[in-house]
Amino acid sequence: MLPTIKWDKDKVIMIDQRKLPEEEIYVEARDYNQVAEAIEKMIIRGAPAIGVAAAYGIALGILEVQEKEDVAEKFLQACERLEKTRPTARNLFWAIKRMKHIFEHNSNLPFAQLKEKLIDEAAAIEKEDIEANRKIGDWGKELIEDGQSILTHCNAGELATAGYGTALGVIRAAFNQGKKIQVYAGETRPFLQGARLTCWELDRLKIPVTLITDNMAGSLMQKGRVSLVITGADRIARNGDAANKIGTYTLAVLAKEHGLHFYVAAPLSTIDFGISDGQEIPIEQRSPEEVREIKGRCITLPQVKVMNPAFDVTPASYISAIITEKGIARSPYEKSLEGLEKI
Ligand code: MRU
Repeated sequence: MLPTIKWDKDKVIMIDQRKLPEEEIYVEARDYNQVAEAIEKMIIRGAPAIGVAAAYGIALGILEVQEKEDVAEKFLQACERLEKTRPTARNLFWAIKRMKHIFEHNSNLPFAQLKEKLIDEAAAIEKEDIEANRKIGDWGKELIEDGQSILTHCNAGELATAGYGTALGVIRAAFNQGKKIQVYAGETRPFLQGARLTCWELDRLKIPVTLITDNMAGSLMQKGRVSLVITGADRIARNGDAANKIGTYTLAVLAKEHGLHFYVAAPLSTIDFGISDGQEIPIEQRSPEEVREIKGRCITLPQVKVMNPAFDVTPASYISAIITEKGIARSPYEKSLEGLEKI
């Protein structure tokens, strides 16, 4: 299997996540606009993967430039286009900021060297994400006991990152320790990341997985079938409030009601230290067709009004711990997250 995203000289190759699990197809993007479209169309999705894609998109934007005089304008165009793709994923803005920093500090270099610096930075963002995920796995595996049943939501695996995964990274690390665990994957209506992507990944890893519809979670917990819940995050505020795929908040409330731990696994690049709480997190609203239709077939009245927020915010008070690459943060998060960031 190719990684989720790969840089190849003058193009970016991505697995088309809309087609999984039926087809394993790879698409190529040759300019920043094609990368932006790939993010918008969900060919590539998941906060850390979107960040890596944006960084490579900017690198492609610079490769298109022939004359050094045009480079600043093209660089800004690429950044602005990519910033507009999806509003919630913090990693997107974090990665673009890193690319801007490199551009500003190297714009005096000969053009060829500047191009190289930007490509190297995008590659570093990719590499660091995989390393961070492995560390998240190492910290997080200690929170999982032999024999446990873990409920997860959406897809926070290899496909949502540069590799290994965050929430699924923790599950993988625990499994690789020899712990006999099993996973319940919520299907994650309407885009079905759980059914299509998480089940596909876990099946390939031979980690036992059972698919459930999102509305089965409460009943499973009531029957004592779930030991803990773990998800990824798209953006975490300074106080620990965490935005993740719509339906995550419901699981956190259910977990609390049933006395279960609810863990969030995310790299520090997902934390937005610039906002104090979750109310400030912009929530993406997606097309009504995603809810109104399944595989292109209308499942309701075509004229019916539809809501489709892509994410919800789980207040920090519902989160037992946030697992990062530098360690495990616990309440009060304002202090613990800041402490980890400073390490
Ligand atoms: O809309 P998506 O598929 O991009 O949403 C993805 C999620 O909500 C993930 O849980 C989140 O990005 C964390 S992935 C490591």
